[in-house]
Amino acid sequence: MTITALPISAHPAVAGGLQLEVTKVAVQTESIVSITLADPAGRKLPSYVPGSHLVVQYGSGVNAYSLTGSGNGPSDYTISVLRVEDGAGGSVAMHRLSAGDRVQVSRPRSAFAPASTATHHLLVAAGIGITPILSHARAAVERGTQASLIYVHRPAAGAHLAEAKELLGSGLTALIECTDRGSFEKVLTESLTTQSLGTHLYVCGPTAFMDAVLDQARELGWTSARLHSEAFGAAELDDGEPFAVNLVRSGLRLEVPAGVSLLETLERAGKSIPNMCRKGICGDCVLPVLRGTPLHRDLYLTDEEKAANTAMMCCVSRSVDPELELDL
Ligand code: FES
Repeated sequence: MTITALPISAHPAVAGGLQLEVTKVAVQTESIVSITLADPAGRKLPSYVPGSHLVVQYGSGVNAYSLTGSGNGPSDYTISVLRVEDGAGGSVAMHRLSAGDRVQVSRPRSAFAPASTATHHLLVAAGIGITPILSHARAAVERGTQASLIYVHRPAAGAHLAEAKELLGSGLTALIECTDRGSFEKVLTESLTTQSLGTHLYVCGPTAFMDAVLDQARELGWTSARLHSEAFGAAELDDGEPFAVNLVRSGLRLEVPAGVSLLETLERAGKSIPNMCRKGICGDCVLPVLRGTPLHRDLYLTDEEKAANTAMMCCVSRSVDPELELDL
């Protein structure tokens, strides 16, 4: 069965990407499958930075999924997909894939890279958030960098547990599983208070979970340069804080309320902004930033592009500062 039926025209988010074949589907939990993709002709695939994701086309839509490998000279790509029954249909379509199906994907994109200067990686994952975290764990082990993993999951519902145990179960590294809130809070506090300054923290999971972990780290004195996180995508994003934008070329000032995207605000003001996915994936809605610091929440811009703060995806990203100045 070829659910994507090789789209006649590729979605812009996967244009210039790869057409791959499903070589394996493995059930991880009741609601999570991992899907392995390879070049149909057996060619090597492009390497990628640990923590990268692929954009996968399903029908006319796209979704972004994190890769689980280390990214070093891969012969295949593995992603894991949580089935979301009331979503836009992407995860359900992905769960229907079987070996031999073809899919159109982007080249891997990095938005959650490891810090090259870290002496230890403290990895914290909840649920499906294990996927990019596993990529970081593999890369750390391959490179001989210390890593430890705190993995929060429902009892008997941990994905990729065997791999994580094999990677981190002994020696200088460690895996701690938490299946209840109390034990997680205790383990996290202990980990955050006993790490050396060379440790970097990486967290992936639901937004509220990530916010809580990052807030606690900041309260305990961790600088933002040592904190790294990856959001799942727009569906998981919170309403955000209100902010204002100055549109320099139009001479307009607009208020962006909490719960309303900058893209929606611009559209309501009569601006026509190209957009396709409205999920921070395709890159269509990019806007040039002249002043202020965007709160990047997309999966399109690379880490370097985000750090430059000269562009933002207005469908999902917001502002760190009360006001942004845009070249619009
Ligand atoms: S519309 Fe696709 S990234 Fe904003």
